[in-house]
Amino acid sequence: MFDFQTLLAAACLVSFGFIGQKLIQRLRRHSIKYLQGPECHSWLVGNLPGIFRAEYAVKNEKRWVEEYGTALHIKGALGSDILYLADPKAMQYIFNTSGYNFHKTRQARVISSLITGKGLSFAEGNIHARQRRIMTPAFHFSTLRVFLPRFRSVAKKTTQKWNEIVQRMGGQGVIEMTSWMSKTTLDAMGETAFNYKFDSLDDGHSDLSRVYTNLIPDSFFKRSDKKLLFEAIWSYIPWWLVTIILRILPTHQLKRIREYMKEARRVARHIIDTARQEHPSVKGGAKDIMSILIKANSSENPKTKLDDESLMAQMTTFMFAGHDTTAATTSWALYHLARHPPAQKKLRDEIRQAKKNAAARGDSDLTIQDLDSMKYLAAVMKETLRYSPILSLLQRQAGRDDIIPLSTPLKTKTGETITSIPVSKGQVIYASIANYNRLKSVWGEDADEWRPERFLDSDYSKKQKTGLGVVANIATFGTGLRSCIGWRFAMTEMQTLLIEFIDMFEYAPVPGKDDIIPATQTIISPMLKGDEGHNQLPLLISPAPDSEDRG
Ligand code: HEM
Repeated sequence: MFDFQTLLAAACLVSFGFIGQKLIQRLRRHSIKYLQGPECHSWLVGNLPGIFRAEYAVKNEKRWVEEYGTALHIKGALGSDILYLADPKAMQYIFNTSGYNFHKTRQARVISSLITGKGLSFAEGNIHARQRRIMTPAFHFSTLRVFLPRFRSVAKKTTQKWNEIVQRMGGQGVIEMTSWMSKTTLDAMGETAFNYKFDSLDDGHSDLSRVYTNLIPDSFFKRSDKKLLFEAIWSYIPWWLVTIILRILPTHQLKRIREYMKEARRVARHIIDTARQEHPSVKGGAKDIMSILIKANSSENPKTKLDDESLMAQMTTFMFAGHDTTAATTSWALYHLARHPPAQKKLRDEIRQAKKNAAARGDSDLTIQDLDSMKYLAAVMKETLRYSPILSLLQRQAGRDDIIPLSTPLKTKTGETITSIPVSKGQVIYASIANYNRLKSVWGEDADEWRPERFLDSDYSKKQKTGLGVVANIATFGTGLRSCIGWRFAMTEMQTLLIEFIDMFEYAPVPGKDDIIPATQTIISPMLKGDEGHNQLPLLISPAPDSEDRG
């Protein structure tokens, strides 16, 4: 076995070799230095602290885009150059038109492997295409119909718990939403995708919930220069060495991530074993997530086969990707509704009307068609996704020399006007979901306002022709080949949760605890200003008007 010092020496040697190689490559490239961009005062970490340690998410990046335009040059770590984009045509070219020619950066893949495992979100090229083909049927519209009652029963459990708290507090109480949303969405994921009870709402046996608590803020909030540098070095050393370092390095962050992944894999193993024994539908045509995964695992055909490790990695991917993403977005929806009482009332009226219509038909609950017909609910969800994306940017790297087109002509440092940007193989790109979602050229002069009504105006949606995203030109679920496979699942889940939450309770900011900031971690979640470091969204809740009449 190697001791730690030998490994470190090896790591240094290989790093120097790779850094030298990268420097030579850099001399051959199309430079992007003629593009305008913010000043940079550190060769070691470049402008990265302005992104990953901003006072609140996207604060500096928004200023950069307003000052320099929708394509700019920023510095990465170790003197590297990053093309920062919010231009719709450029993003469409990279994500939708170019297939796999722009792949994920090493840094994005390493973070993905750490917190989701080496599943769909980690895979590249043909392996990705094959896995995506296998799993797409599990997210078909028809599957969601079956999930609807299960989402609803988890939502009802949450509101029952809140009711007990509110009753104990004399009819009104403060609820910290982010932790409740995290438990709710973990249980919802378990009951729908895995047919498994995490019981985190009952504070049951969910060790996963325990090891996950505050893992992401602890690991990724306000990343120090040391952490940013450590992540940058991953790009310059071979994969096998990155893997060894991440497996053995005894930092607090890595130890916690390893503990989480060990527990996630233990739970995944248990779910797989149970599903293999109990799943009656594996041999049939069932299209739920577990059936599809188990069926692919037992397939003899290499084109449709998922081996044991890949099966495990998909499970841990769904556990992460399908849980805190929806939790954070639902928290943001409640945050906005609490600050916009007329919108909250309008949504409640729509929900009550839909429930009345269902009862008049003789249905005990809303159907998927009812959800589809609730235009204001859809508008609230879309506007929340647009205004509060939980991923601020997507990292990509050019797989070949290329020319990226722009929708808006741009002035360079020397005053020349350009309409496209030539890039060399290896160019790192940060595509900003958050800045694109707020472009005045796309969303109008009120782009910085949270206003669901914009999505009710049919002329407005006709004007949005950027061709990005999977919903209403919003980039929050990504776009193109690697867009979110779970977007329909997430939309149905979030709509079902909001229906129960808004029907039952009224929400308002808590006086003195209402300065909530979007905090950059791997995902953007709410934190309380002055008490940052853990996710927090306190809201004052009380029974919604007339809710007691409904028994
Ligand atoms: C509001 C909720 C969600 C948001 C905003 C969201 C956002 C995203 C985004 C932006 C990507 C693309 C990442 C990239 O291109 O680098 C993505 C990918 C992915 N998402 Fe989601 N997601 C959400 C919910 C879900 C749910 C509920 C699931 C599963 C049940 C899920 C599973 C995945 C997976 C597996 C990928 C990787 C897809 C691929 O690479 O082909 N997500 N998501």
